[in-house]
Amino acid sequence: MVDQKLIDLARETLLKKTNIAVLTGSGISAESGIPTFRGEDGLWKKYSPEEFGTVPGLLLQFAKNPRRIIEFALNLLEVFTKAQPNPGHIALARLEQKYRKNVTIITQNIDDLHEIAGNTNVLKLHGDLFRLRCIKCGHREKIDREYLENYMKKLRDILSSPLKIVKEGKELLPRCPECGGIMRPDVVFFGEALPQKELSLAYIAVDAAEVMLVIGTSGEVYPANTLPYRAKQNGATVIEVNPQRTIFSDMVDIFIEGKAGEVLPRIIP
Ligand code: APR
Repeated sequence: MVDQKLIDLARETLLKKTNIAVLTGSGISAESGIPTFRGEDGLWKKYSPEEFGTVPGLLLQFAKNPRRIIEFALNLLEVFTKAQPNPGHIALARLEQKYRKNVTIITQNIDDLHEIAGNTNVLKLHGDLFRLRCIKCGHREKIDREYLENYMKKLRDILSSPLKIVKEGKELLPRCPECGGIMRPDVVFFGEALPQKELSLAYIAVDAAEVMLVIGTSGEVYPANTLPYRAKQNGATVIEVNPQRTIFSDMVDIFIEGKAGEVLPRIIP
């Protein structure tokens, strides 16, 4: 049972301040049907992060068993293109739209749910599934759900025959309109650098924050997991929402045990 006193304290704290930084992880999208990474049914429980979370691992897997990689990509794309913002995302958007707070969403997620919910200042530290990047010239292209739905049709067609996997497998990734190079999803795999612009802006937002919300993240991954400590050191009030305690929970000012989709609408009505 969520502690109503903590909910009221969190709401009073948030609504009397202006500059708010929010760090989100996969837990905020769990109620939208997107799997977390480390929960009991987390992605890294089903797929090894070394093989499916790194570029060398994916390339090696593709060479050994292209069908498995295509099916992995298809399953993920189906989840991401079907997902809709849940009451947790929508409550965070209310903080900006209804309460006119200066809100910076710093997310580790690659989905588009904060934007669809209505937050306009979203920093994606681990990249964006809805953006492609050319591995040759660095050109970037925004893509939408329709593009991904058409791409999924292509993947299903290739999977329909072993011959197609061999023949068309090499041309799976789109070509850059600028230089003809291969374009890849603009997401950060393990061992890759984070986007410097987003990271610098995240530090600025955390340093200016009067309140920091930490929602749905295990805090396992650096450097995102340093941000709540940085906010705390700068005098911000730190509020965490998670069904389980995490490495942050002893440090935060308010820990509310519960799901984002259930707790956030009660903190931000
Ligand atoms: N509401 C809020 N929190 C939830 C919910 C929910 N409904 N369901 C699960 N959680 C919490 C879990 O208790 C856990 O603390 O969300 C957290 C998810 O943790 P992880 O699976 O480790 O995901 P995350 O913290 O986002 O991982 C960070 O690791 O693999 C990399 O790049 C990947 O961005 C990811 C990064």
